[in-house]
Amino acid sequence: MGSNGRSQLHSTRIDMPAETRLEVIGSLNQTLASTLDLKTQVKQAHWNVKGMDFYQLHELFDELASELEEYIDMVAERITALGGVAFGTARVAASQSQLPEYPFDILEGKEHVVALADRYAAYGKSLRAEIDATDDMGDADTADLYTEISRAIDKRLWFLEAHLQAPLELTVANGTARKAAAKSKASEPQVSEVKSASKAKKTKAK
Ligand SMILES: [Fe+2]
Repeated sequence: MGSNGRSQLHSTRIDMPAETRLEVIGSLNQTLASTLDLKTQVKQAHWNVKGMDFYQLHELFDELASELEEYIDMVAERITALGGVAFGTARVAASQSQLPEYPFDILEGKEHVVALADRYAAYGKSLRAEIDATDDMGDADTADLYTEISRAIDKRLWFLEAHLQAPLELTVANGTARKAAAKSKASEPQVSEVKSASKAKKTKAK
């Protein structure tokens, strides 16, 4: 945040030096910009996703956006509690966000999940850095706020990545099972092979 933000500090009874508050407010305004940006990008995905998974992704993305809206409010109000000015307009968010612009040429659900997972990972990384940074600045409360948001963002990254991990893991598991079966028919079957075999039997029975 530029010198404009740093020059505006209200007096407060909070027992934290003005210098500390200014430093923390700078971090928080940076986070505010990135969070606002991320929320609009999630909405972009919510509106434009296409494909057979449309409905569940449309709903998930809306849930993520609502959650980010809460963090926007928490971050902005921590800034004002510290006597600072929260810079939360779209113009400031666009100019100060650490995230790349959202791709406008994607359609399928998987493409949106990948784009959002990339951004959640980058956003999560910046939050983790701020946990330590604000703790070092001497503001354990802001560090705690960052920890809370960071933990939730990690969870949401898992939600997104779970869509991408499942097919890969199945492919690997099936590949391993096929290789093992080809090597020796007499050897003790692995659990995954037993499952595959019982599935195959059921399929044949139909
Ligand atoms: Fe909507």
